[in-house]
Amino acid sequence: MKKNILAAALAAMVTVTALAGCGSAASDSGNSGSTGKTLTVGTNAAFPPFEYVGDDGNPDGFDIALIKAIGEKAGYEVQIQDMEFDSLVSSIGNKIDVAIAGMTVTEERKNMVDFSEPYYEAVQNVLVAKGSDIATAADLEGKKIGVQLGTTGEFIADEIPGAEVSAYNKAVDAVNDLNNGRVDCVIVDKNPAEVFGAQFSDKVDVLGGEQFDFEPENYAIALPKGDTELAEKINSALKELKADGTYDSLVSKYIEE
Ligand code: ARG
Repeated sequence: MKKNILAAALAAMVTVTALAGCGSAASDSGNSGSTGKTLTVGTNAAFPPFEYVGDDGNPDGFDIALIKAIGEKAGYEVQIQDMEFDSLVSSIGNKIDVAIAGMTVTEERKNMVDFSEPYYEAVQNVLVAKGSDIATAADLEGKKIGVQLGTTGEFIADEIPGAEVSAYNKAVDAVNDLNNGRVDCVIVDKNPAEVFGAQFSDKVDVLGGEQFDFEPENYAIALPKGDTELAEKINSALKELKADGTYDSLVSKYIEE
């Protein structure tokens, strides 16, 4: 199934690009936070299993299902807008109302947006070509490292001594360059790393754990700064979904198969 997800994501990338240009049909939704309105949700649908383009050409994945369930509880019609990951934070409050994109809560992002309660714990992993000499964090020094632009993987790579970092708009483009030999490894979140690892299982290995000792990260929904009414609605919907079993069923459907 993971392979199917990725194949669909890859195959429909052109469609996504086309969809991304359509603009928001909910430009009047603003960020008022009142119910019965459209909630325009930004994502970057190239991050399986959290978001990818489904067989029907529409964004799907854990985050998409979660935000739709939240919208249903909180009384919003959810409209998904696919865009570059790196422009999500700055688009909140203008092009989009909120963002759900496997986005890690960071102090820097908190200067620009508020975050919901965390909904998933993540950690970075390292994709390497089979037979690579990279096995521990120390081995990353001086290496050519591929990352997705504007992600925590990029921030981590930037701190590695002597590393030559290449940032791509999509994580899969970094993985393609790993397969081409243009980079030595790719630093990306664990679950997407596992999906890419399964897709290219003949070529790559997925490394992580205590050899690298990356800090745990928390995914949360990015919200307009200061909109406490919207934050409360989203947080209480999330809490209800955890209590009524919906959250767990989405985890088993999309993440733990
Ligand atoms: N968790 C990482 C971050 O917040 C990567 C998220 C990338 N998400 C995506 N939909 N491309 O920086």
